[in-house]
Amino acid sequence: MTDDTDDAPLSFYDEVGGHATFVRLVDGFYRGVATDDVLKPMYPEEDLGPAAERLTMFLEQYWGGPTTYSERRGHPRLRARHNPFPVNPDARDRWLRHMRASLDELDLPPLHEATLWDYLERAAMAMVNTFEASPIGPPDGGRTAFTPSAAAPDHPPVHRTSEPETDTRRLQ
Ligand code: HEM
Repeated sequence: MTDDTDDAPLSFYDEVGGHATFVRLVDGFYRGVATDDVLKPMYPEEDLGPAAERLTMFLEQYWGGPTTYSERRGHPRLRARHNPFPVNPDARDRWLRHMRASLDELDLPPLHEATLWDYLERAAMAMVNTFEASPIGPPDGGRTAFTPSAAAPDHPPVHRTSEPETDTRRLQ
């Protein structure tokens, strides 16, 4: 697969630089997570290293690299594996923001970058499993849990997880 002496087409994994690229992407991402007061407390382990390794293995496998993830962890079943964690739109946006910052650092060719980003965005959208406001994180002056009745009828509910005038974090 990584042997470039034959005529087999390169996988996307190989094209973007193989293991080193995915390690850089995930390490940069977790440097952001480590500073995030909503995401960081979600991680069961204080040390983010093992989580970083699992995400690296998963992404490598997804993009045509080694299948170590499935060998060690079995079928990904990512939606189910995220069920214990309250992934609301705020958590998703934070996750994507750290991924975006790390992806930018990689300086990949535009088509590769766009391909990766498109996947990451769609995968993160699919991981949302609640519209309740997060019970963890900084006090934000009266943030309330999302309920359909709390949303103005003419307002897209997905954006109303908190009061817009008190919650500026989504804009940062
Ligand atoms: C949308 C926001 C997301 C949040 C808040 C989130 C949060 C978490 C947390 C707290 C864990 C547990 C740490 C661990 O045991 O590894 C986890 C695991 C994991 N996440 Fe996410 N995640 C999100 C999206 C994604 C996306 C989009 C992907 C894939 C592209 C992904 C891939 C994984 C993988 C592979 C694991 C390890 C699963 C395992 O083998 O146990 N996550 N995530």
